[in-house]
Amino acid sequence: MSLQGKRIVVGLGGGIAAFKAVELVRELMRRGAEVRVVMTEAATHFVGPITFAGLTGKPAVTDLWAEDYAGEVHVELGDWADAIVIAPATMNLMARASSGQANDAVLATLACARGDVFFAPAMHARMWSHPAMQSNIQTLRARGAVVLGPVTGPLANGEIGEGRMMEPEDIAEAIESHLVHSDDLSGSRILITAGPTHEDLDPVRYLGNRSSGRMGYAIASRAQHRGAEVTIVSGPVHLPVPSGAEVVRVRSAEEMHAAVMSRFEHFDVVIMAAAVADYRPERRATRKIKKGKSLKLELVRNPDILADVGAKRARRPSVLVGFALETENLEQSARDKLERKAADLIVANEASAGLGGDTNRATLVDAATATPLPEMTKRALADQVLDRVRTLLNNSSQRSRLETEHEAPN
Ligand code: C5P
Repeated sequence: MSLQGKRIVVGLGGGIAAFKAVELVRELMRRGAEVRVVMTEAATHFVGPITFAGLTGKPAVTDLWAEDYAGEVHVELGDWADAIVIAPATMNLMARASSGQANDAVLATLACARGDVFFAPAMHARMWSHPAMQSNIQTLRARGAVVLGPVTGPLANGEIGEGRMMEPEDIAEAIESHLVHSDDLSGSRILITAGPTHEDLDPVRYLGNRSSGRMGYAIASRAQHRGAEVTIVSGPVHLPVPSGAEVVRVRSAEEMHAAVMSRFEHFDVVIMAAAVADYRPERRATRKIKKGKSLKLELVRNPDILADVGAKRARRPSVLVGFALETENLEQSARDKLERKAADLIVANEASAGLGGDTNRATLVDAATATPLPEMTKRALADQVLDRVRTLLNNSSQRSRLETEHEAPN
């Protein structure tokens, strides 16, 4: 019953997955939430408002012009809800939401949202990958909406593809983890490195890696949501910055090193999720290198940012977290790294999972324990890492309190 006391509006678009919204409403209520339903006119062709009235005990709002609502029901619902979840979110509905339209009950309620907004897209895979859809999703995300799915599986016409709505239980789980964590990191300042680094060879070429930055940005977004003050030191990525977070953009490992070293003492927590290049070209040519028969590159070592923070930190950061991508001896290699870089926690990934994708499988290694986690979304892993960070922060403030008491003269 961990959604006890939470108020959730479920908004339906007109798609075949609308029948699953019935199960979603039930699941949210089973978890203790109070639920109200709003529907587009199209949605009412797929599932009847009476079904939701029966489940929730309140009429489903389908029409802003209905006399019972006195014209302000969207304002009242937007104000009332801790969260609004649009499921199914159709291509059309999200296009209208991203352009700020408010011409039906669902969109007008969304426009008045005071709480968190979630979209659970459901459509054919070709519609989902359409550039217009993807750019609308970017817009909605940039405004702070959380997009849940879609997942890959059988679509309405029997084809297999990415476009299937997430299962109601998974949607409810994601909303619950989002809502219940609110504010448990408030008061802490967190610095996160994210993305790859690009090591320039000449004005047009560089050495890089396939990191998308999604893991670091997921941590930033969750930390921000949980009340932390967040700064991202970001390599070159194509990701929206979580609203409210500060971003410092860099290209190379040396730039990232400088950005982190000049800031880390102001942060309670430093999390190094960037895939920093270990080497850079010894020289960066000032002009484009001409084609020859062959080309020999001399590479030199980059500074290890995590190890440098580990070696130089005094009072801050209280918690230092590193990532490790390993192909073998996962736990032992992570433990070596923990010691060598003086970190408090290493998030160890198997090299086969993670890089560039939406999910990750990791083992959390600290001084005393190693906890293997199942494969999960990067968002869910971000919460697991932050749960650990919160525990480490609490331990460290307890330790410094005891030390102060010990040092204090009687
Ligand atoms: O030693 P390895 O590269 O496996 O360590 C990975 C961890 O160290 C990651 O947290 C990464 O962000 C950090 N790192 C760094 N600077 C480097 C190399 C790695 O901060 N030059």
